[in-house]
Amino acid sequence: MQFTKEDFGQEFKWGVSTAAYQIEGSHDVDGKGFSIWDTFSNKLKRIAGNQNGNISCDHYNRYTGDITLIYKLSIPNYRFSVSWSRILPQGTGAVNQSGIDFYNRKIDLCLELGIEPWITLYHWDLPEALQQKGGWTNREVVTWFSNFTACCAEHFGDRVKHWIILNEPMVFTGAGYFLGVHAPGKKGLSNFLAAAHHAALCQAEGGRIVRELVYDSKVGTTFSYSHIDPFSQDEKDIRAAKKVDALLNRMFLEPLLGMGYPIGDLKILKRIEKFMLPGDAEMLAFDMDFIGLQNYTREIVKHSFFTPFVKARIVKADQRDVERTVMNWEVYPPSIYNALKRFNSYPAVKEIIVTENGAAFQDLIVAGEVRDTQRIKFLHDHIEQVLLAKKEGVRVMGYFVWTLLDNFEWAEGFYPRFGLVHVDFETQKRVVKASGIWYRDFIRCKGREDIIDHKL
Ligand code: FCB
Repeated sequence: MQFTKEDFGQEFKWGVSTAAYQIEGSHDVDGKGFSIWDTFSNKLKRIAGNQNGNISCDHYNRYTGDITLIYKLSIPNYRFSVSWSRILPQGTGAVNQSGIDFYNRKIDLCLELGIEPWITLYHWDLPEALQQKGGWTNREVVTWFSNFTACCAEHFGDRVKHWIILNEPMVFTGAGYFLGVHAPGKKGLSNFLAAAHHAALCQAEGGRIVRELVYDSKVGTTFSYSHIDPFSQDEKDIRAAKKVDALLNRMFLEPLLGMGYPIGDLKILKRIEKFMLPGDAEMLAFDMDFIGLQNYTREIVKHSFFTPFVKARIVKADQRDVERTVMNWEVYPPSIYNALKRFNSYPAVKEIIVTENGAAFQDLIVAGEVRDTQRIKFLHDHIEQVLLAKKEGVRVMGYFVWTLLDNFEWAEGFYPRFGLVHVDFETQKRVVKASGIWYRDFIRCKGREDIIDHKL
């Protein structure tokens, strides 16, 4: 189908997303405290090749150039996260004025250039001082997070109107407190369920605080979502797919919508009740102005007797002979369409914004250019699916590419490149990829996928 930006309507929000730990660097300057990712990478050395985000894209010092690039690419909305330990080095208590000043400079520059800033409060970098007290497994995190939220709302709420409470709670509690592959590297069902329940409380509580303190706010929170298909039509595989879907796609969304945890389809979740206090069921619910959908791929799920708790496993893309990215994620554009339809089927979801979508490919600089045609096709095909859903009445009102710059990709380090802009991590040189130009032309409504003009 041929389409242009106009088909989405004037109100539709086009944007790009980043996260503090992945781009800022300057992990120990100007009064910043350590976060769990500083510890995980520097002390526990848990990242591929012992890499860390100490410097990363050096965005802390180069934000002017980076935001100017967003301007040159004509991207009208910029979603970024604030580093909790840059603002509150101990996680709670004394405010670090240099941290506030940094984000004020970022916000002011965006506004000066006509770019709407969207703040994510939590994109996975918990202050290490709070992890020392149990981090997300300690119920006190609800108070710590509430104070941090109020602090950001008070300092930035006069100029920032779009707020996102949490980034993908399933990923940071699952990878960080169950599998131990993300910071803080904890494992086990008990750690996971405690962290998950407290995160679910925080997502609703954070929403309430922002709505109360920020005049005219639009508040939302994000969820990872991958469409899930069973490996076969065998009943065992179908049951396994349903359980994984409840865990990965519904566990945080449904309590927010007042439906409670999806225990009916995943019995093990009953154990989360151990961490619930009277009144929690109500406290988990909040009517967000929008729901952020983050989609990259689909998953194929197979029954697996040996996998504890869920008795299911994911069959990775390389075992299925399908097109895949360097993350070993299948390229499957209908996944975003299915995700949108699914979110839309909940009457309590008012509006959906795709807050992340993108892909990592092997981007090589050849004669000073990166001709990342695979990424252009990926973005084109996914945006097309968004339009398809929108035309069918889905309440989707925005689309943000992940991400502006190649950066520190969590446990994988710097190898997967997701950016619209190539970064040479030795020299910090930025080169806009062909996909960046494509996105610019699409947003400017000048061109389609066949237009690759490398000049900014
Ligand atoms: C999402 C994260 C984001 C980035 C992309 C590839 O799960 O929110 O920080 O790592 O995946």
